[in-house]
Amino acid sequence: MPKQNRIVLAIASAVFLVIVVLETVAPANIVGAYALVLPILLVATLRNRLLMVATVVACVAATYIGLMQPTKPGRFQAAVVNRTVVAGVLVMVAYMGMTREERKAREETTRQALAQQTESLLRANALLVDAKDQLNRSERLAAVGQLVASVAHEVGTPLHSIAWHVQALGEEPGVTPDMRKRITVIDEQLNRVVRIIQDLLSSTRQRKPDPSWMSVEQVIGPATALMEPAFHAKEVVLTSELAIGVPLVWADAGKLHQVLVNLLTNALAATAPHGSVDVHVGARAATAEELESGQRLAQDMSSMVVTVAVRDTGIGMPASDVQNAFQPFFTTKEVGKGTGLGLFLSRETVQAHGGRLSLVSKQGQGTTVTITLPGKVVVPEGVV
Ligand SMILES: Nc1ncnc2c1ncn2[C@@H]1O[C@H](COP(=O)(O)OP(=O)(O)OP(=O)(O)O)[C@@H](O)[C@H]1O
Ligand SMILES: [Mg+2]
Repeated sequence: MPKQNRIVLAIASAVFLVIVVLETVAPANIVGAYALVLPILLVATLRNRLLMVATVVACVAATYIGLMQPTKPGRFQAAVVNRTVVAGVLVMVAYMGMTREERKAREETTRQALAQQTESLLRANALLVDAKDQLNRSERLAAVGQLVASVAHEVGTPLHSIAWHVQALGEEPGVTPDMRKRITVIDEQLNRVVRIIQDLLSSTRQRKPDPSWMSVEQVIGPATALMEPAFHAKEVVLTSELAIGVPLVWADAGKLHQVLVNLLTNALAATAPHGSVDVHVGARAATAEELESGQRLAQDMSSMVVTVAVRDTGIGMPASDVQNAFQPFFTTKEVGKGTGLGLFLSRETVQAHGGRLSLVSKQGQGTTVTITLPGKVVVPEGVV
């Protein structure tokens, strides 16, 4: 029996005893017997039928014991009637107390079941909203993919015939060096158009990442080197900082390179000349969630994650933009300057590694976008 119930039972017994003593001291005073409703009400709160029956029996018995006390002659009959009324009241109180407590218990159980159902409904609703979002995104992407594919196909056919004719022109006997120069320019530009179409296709039909364990510098180095000239031209300082003892990272170098270039391009666009952008690489213990999603793809992951934070001191973003930043086609750039796919595709890529991409931004202060990926601690050979 729980401690709380034992205390209630002890109080009920004490009250019962006090009443019995009082009844004995002041015989034939049935007011005292009415007080037996107190232990009955106390025991009712324990919601135990057997205990209640025992209590009622004890209380009714105590009520009639009062009859043993000497009463005034001729009053015995009246005393029996009075005490029977008291016993009836006690039984009624016990019944009402018990049904009330049982109803309360039923209500509590129903309330708990309802709360559980509401919770699972809310969870299901959240999942549904997520799934709907995902579907919307996939539908929009699929539509763009289809558009790009059909444009590529339609443009590709005349392009082939132009290329063939340009080649044929170049082989004509009467072609002067000046004309050949122009033909070369046409040929180069044609190749550019073909590359643009291929790039568009690759941005909508993503290659699946093929990650392996590698040192994080392998990814950071080439990306910052590639972006350095653009930073230099805008007079924005680009620094990178690597904490000591960073574990190996689970990465597809090519894919991660693309993500970093996306993030650095965004950071550069948001930062005014003389501002700075910093790439900070660190590691920390993985949360349970990170460990679960990481180990699904990188089984031999240690319980560590590698973090690559791209921090800028740029214009930052209002809260509403932060909420939408990862939506496909969300862009605040002018038409033709941004597709709004950079962050969306970067997040998809990082998630396909078993990692996550998060963004924190404050308007006027800057933005930090953090890539979190599974890490693997390697013990150097010879160290036990
Ligand atoms: N570092 C940043 N600072 C301020 N705003 C940012 C930053 N990174 C992203 N944003 C905001 O989020 C929007 C979406 O970024 P995202 O990279 O997805 O698309 P985009 O840069 O507009 O276009 P794209 O990358 O396709 O050329 C941007 O238009 C910009 O408003
Ligand atoms: Mg971008």
